[in-house]
Amino acid sequence: MKYGRIVGWGKYAPARVLTNADLSNMVDTSDEWIVTRTGIRQRHIAAEGETTATMSVAASRAALAQAGLAPEDLDLIILATTSPDTFLPASSSLVQAMLGAKCGAFQLQAGCTGFVYGLATAQAFISTGLHKNVLVIGTETISRNVDWADRETCVLFGDGAGAVIVQACDEPTGVLSFVLGSDGSGAPHLHINIGAGQVITPEAIQRGDHFISMNGREVFKFATRVMGQAATEAVHQAGMSLSDIDLLIPHQANLRIIELAARHLRLPMDKVFVNIQDYGNTSAASIPIALVEAIEQGHCKEGDNLCLVGFGAGLTWAAAVVRWGVSERPVAMSSLFAPVVRARERAQVRLRVAQTAAAMQVMTARHALKKGTARAVATVKSKASAALLPLYARVGKRYTRDKRG
Ligand code: ACO
Repeated sequence: MKYGRIVGWGKYAPARVLTNADLSNMVDTSDEWIVTRTGIRQRHIAAEGETTATMSVAASRAALAQAGLAPEDLDLIILATTSPDTFLPASSSLVQAMLGAKCGAFQLQAGCTGFVYGLATAQAFISTGLHKNVLVIGTETISRNVDWADRETCVLFGDGAGAVIVQACDEPTGVLSFVLGSDGSGAPHLHINIGAGQVITPEAIQRGDHFISMNGREVFKFATRVMGQAATEAVHQAGMSLSDIDLLIPHQANLRIIELAARHLRLPMDKVFVNIQDYGNTSAASIPIALVEAIEQGHCKEGDNLCLVGFGAGLTWAAAVVRWGVSERPVAMSSLFAPVVRARERAQVRLRVAQTAAAMQVMTARHALKKGTARAVATVKSKASAALLPLYARVGKRYTRDKRG
């Protein structure tokens, strides 16, 4: 059996930062309430033109550079998100095209647990020998679905992207086990009420059906129950005990939930990675961004056992045990030039976004012109037929008279 080792990683966070102080000028809240109830101090918000696809591309290019791979080396792209650019097509195909990859791509939706579901899917493709290099991305532009007048949800969420490359290897490293769970009876606790079952109408928009709606207390109760359970199950499935875990990387939704899960698992907080203060809840991007930061800050050492665990809309939960190990990979020359590559790629993404915006403007102008021309032709035609009406009437009368005889 093949194992799926993480050989590349990258993240992207929009430049715009929204602090708790900014929010307290928008809704009836305070820095103190947000910090004490959630642990969040700031979140990143996507700029106009930044979307799930563009942010995914930025994170993926960093992961490819880190792995020393080209987009053509990818066998599959899995994008976990709850905030795709559009309903159709899937943003995963936009990412594939923007990267210049030549492989299949699909989008996966499992709320905040989507990235771990994606990792498990990548492992399944790799362990069967079907694929060698799989790109797994978790990205959200969730700020576009947040009601910025609702203090109970708007203080929680942020945008961003994280990506990893899972590569086939023979040694027992990488994804060693995973647990995936779902309880759809909890769907009403966390939802966005538009789709095929609830089409968008002016009334639906007025009701705010396109915004995230959440029963915070119920989600809190559910999260504190499943985080510990799922992590324990994944650890046992990997043939380990909780004391073998070197680092827990939980979904960053609420610091109190993370602390309760750590207590349940009897893990000291120095074995738990937390970056919620800087990002808020970035949903499917939260675990990969935390993983990338943990790696960058030197928290993942060769042979370390990591446990990734999350919960989210569905309601869903997921956990995976990953043995960290990248030493057999030769140092890729490309990683030395990673900052330069990243700057060039950011410029390329900006250029593509500008090109798309310009193309859309041209199309809109052309459409307006066509519409204007069509309207002018219709006016001339109707004026001409109005002018010719008496003539038609005379000819018609004469025809009838001649026929009669
Ligand atoms: N600022 C100030 N006061 C607030 C705010 C705010 N931003 N939000 C709520 N309050 C008030 C409430 O109105 C309430 O006032 P009341 O007592 O007068 O009625 C009081 O604070 C307490 O409200 P609670 O809901 O009891 O606050 P709680 O301690 O439960 O914290 C929170 C709320 C932070 C939402 C918490 O329940 C939570 O984190 N739940 C889980 C959320 C979560 O993890 N979601 C995951 C999303 S995952 C995905 O897939 C998208």
